[in-house]
Amino acid sequence: MENQRKVRTVESEAMAGGRAPSTMRAVMYRRYGGPEVLEFSETARPEPKPGKVLVRLGAAGLDRGTWHLMAGEPRAVRLAIGLRAPRNPVPGIDFAGEVVAVGDGVSGFAVGDRVLGVSAGSFAEYVLADARKLVQLPKGISWEQAAALPTSGVTALQALQKAGVLGEDTRMLVTGASGGVGSFVVQLAKLRGVHVSAECSARKMEFVSSLGADIVYDRAGGGAYSRDAAYDVVVDIAGNPPVATLRRILAKDGRAVIVGGEAPGPSLTGMNRQLRAVLVSPFLRQSLSMLVSVNKRQDLAELVELMSAGKLESKIDKIFRLGQAREAMEYLVAGGVCGKVVLVP
Ligand SMILES: NC(=O)c1ccc[n+]([C@@H]2O[C@H](COP(=O)([O-])OP(=O)(O)OC[C@H]3O[C@@H](n4cnc5c(N)ncnc54)[C@H](OP(=O)(O)O)[C@@H]3O)[C@@H](O)[C@H]2O)c1
Repeated sequence: MENQRKVRTVESEAMAGGRAPSTMRAVMYRRYGGPEVLEFSETARPEPKPGKVLVRLGAAGLDRGTWHLMAGEPRAVRLAIGLRAPRNPVPGIDFAGEVVAVGDGVSGFAVGDRVLGVSAGSFAEYVLADARKLVQLPKGISWEQAAALPTSGVTALQALQKAGVLGEDTRMLVTGASGGVGSFVVQLAKLRGVHVSAECSARKMEFVSSLGADIVYDRAGGGAYSRDAAYDVVVDIAGNPPVATLRRILAKDGRAVIVGGEAPGPSLTGMNRQLRAVLVSPFLRQSLSMLVSVNKRQDLAELVELMSAGKLESKIDKIFRLGQAREAMEYLVAGGVCGKVVLVP
């Protein structure tokens, strides 16, 4: 009875928008490819299911992971998301919004709650999400700030966790510091008192300084790797330096955490370098590891708390409408983004 009342709430909202209550507008893709595969169209609105909540979108975050799923690259991801075409035609992972219906067996969330989290298919007016992956969103945080946080913020936090104990005597290098993950890594490292050197392209150096980085290198001409250094920690997010290069700028007992790096060509999209690093690491005094971030509710909640306390910010470069998802993706892929890109309904 309670659920019926909640579902009716959604229907009256959709009717007010002049559309059938069973449909919604969503970004969709029916084949793998570039941003041109993204369309904006009408589709069935998800129904609340056991363990799930239905969320009316406040904003959705765009990130490289969504690009990988859209492109179906590296090819191995197609084993999970559809060999010939994506099984779930709605892209998007990160979102924030208001709960409009609650499925059976869900506790801790009610209609009207503001939430953020991850769910496959977040580029839509309504998102069906696993309640176990959601976090309550305090009133003072905007939809856009929240939607930009889950994947990039949690990845950044887990990269620092993997790097081990960090403090004022830690000298860290962050590459790809101007991007979605990097902009959170720099802020979180500074909160721990770390001395942060950061690398990015020349036009983004001012932005990276504004994040709190102590030293910012232009990545042109070798960037930080062309200097004599002995970092305690390198968070390697972009640029794909060879393992030997990475080791050369690490202290004798330094730790490198390889987060990413887009590489053109072969289907492993940069993963071979990461695997090589992990294979040689046990034989070294230095530690080389690769991060595979996991969406832990506890980590997301920790970030929301920092944001709520005014200690952490999603650095939002540009906001697009859902109907402009193609332009938003083109903008991300073009490489000019400082921080995050967000979509709103
Ligand atoms: N391991 C995991 O679990 C995990 C999770 C999330 C993301 N990732 C990966 O992490 C990487 C970064 O993700 P993101 O969301 O932060 O991406 P992003 O927002 O696009 O930022 C990447 C940054 O890399 C820099 N960059 C681009 N090409 C470069 C090059 N050739 N050399 C050096 N820097 C370059 C760009 O900044 P400048 O123009 O300023 O250099 C860009 O801002 C991606 O490869 C992504 O797939 C991994």
